[in-house]
Amino acid sequence: MAEQQETCTLEAPARWPLTARAAISDLPASKIREIANAGFGRTDLVRFWFGESNRPTPDYIKRAAVEAIDKDAVFYTHNNGREDLREVLAGYLGGLHGRGFSTQRTSVTSSGVSALMIALQTLIAPGDRVVLVTPIWPNIAQIPEVLGAHVERVAVSPGPAGWELDLDRLLDAVTPATRVLIINSPGNPTGWTITRAQQQAILDHCRRLGVWILSDDVYERLVLGEGAANAPSFFALADARDRLIGANSFSKAWLMTGWRLGWLVAPEELFGELGKVIEFNTSCVPGFIQSAGIAALAEGEPHVRALQHELTANRNKVLAHLSAMEGVEAPCPEGGMYAFFRIRGHGDSVALARRLVAEAGLGLAPGAAFGPEGEGWLRWCFAAGGTELDEGLARLARWVSDNRRKEQE
Ligand SMILES: Cc1ncc(COP(=O)(O)O)c(C=O)c1O
Repeated sequence: MAEQQETCTLEAPARWPLTARAAISDLPASKIREIANAGFGRTDLVRFWFGESNRPTPDYIKRAAVEAIDKDAVFYTHNNGREDLREVLAGYLGGLHGRGFSTQRTSVTSSGVSALMIALQTLIAPGDRVVLVTPIWPNIAQIPEVLGAHVERVAVSPGPAGWELDLDRLLDAVTPATRVLIINSPGNPTGWTITRAQQQAILDHCRRLGVWILSDDVYERLVLGEGAANAPSFFALADARDRLIGANSFSKAWLMTGWRLGWLVAPEELFGELGKVIEFNTSCVPGFIQSAGIAALAEGEPHVRALQHELTANRNKVLAHLSAMEGVEAPCPEGGMYAFFRIRGHGDSVALARRLVAEAGLGLAPGAAFGPEGEGWLRWCFAAGGTELDEGLARLARWVSDNRRKEQE
């Protein structure tokens, strides 16, 4: 009996480290959050660090969701999204790009970032090579890393006419070993906007090599300047069987960041595969949120045009003020809702953003958040009210001139 008791004595359980896998624990914390946290609790700040409009979602969209809840649109829906929303989406895309889209080419997702994740989960395996045009919204670079891919970056550079892409460098970087080329145009944070000729050259190159293009089109409706309905799109050039996926979102052009609604455009052949991957992520988008999406697309065109107009005026104002400040370099963004600029003599963007919070009461995003190519730059989201923008610009002008004076003393 005594012997039996001895053998039953339990050892203390092993203490295993409570760690995530390396690809996750290696991810850096958000540098934008780092600055926002530094300003937490301050009521005197003017904030332009996050990428969203200061305006709430318009009433016609909210009403559609409320009515849908009243009608019990509260059950699971199709993995790829409701047929009626996909029909509206197909019609919307056809109108925008001047060619037909079947509903089987569209899938509804729970946000733009989820659209990117689902597309990349569908396409890439650990060890695959992904090429990006940078500086870029950090999630786009980090999703492939989470999935174990190897990321290569080709940077745009500031030129006299705005941000410029060295097309030959990009084409050289995209080799037969590349699985996916990701392009975000108009780009966050720079506002760089690809030209149709560049798209054609990239499409031809990727067609030859069998490389997938993932086009992040979240800002395609935020073209700045009067006239165009949207930025140049691969979908106007490609055919239905090209290796091309578009990731898009209701967040920016329809002022719906908190709704978490986006979509994918892909070859029909991937419809079922995308549905499988959506099943394991979110299973489906809530039905009442999709009703809001239908209203946004069906009734939203005048609102999107008004937003383009407003953002163009804001861009012009911000650029005029920044360019007039001594030592400030501000290439003109052609799309999106951000100015990406730098102040001579300030190479450490996190340190500079912290100082602007502390000394000027101004909240901007540090360029280093968008990769090493963004270091030394700051991002200003100008989807803001006129008074707020005026106040922010005045604070920056004061800080820049005070700082210059102190440096010269
Ligand atoms: C380039 C880009 N893509 C995708 C997204 C994702 O948008 P959301 O997840 O809000 O739909 C953002 C958001 O800032 C973005 O800047």
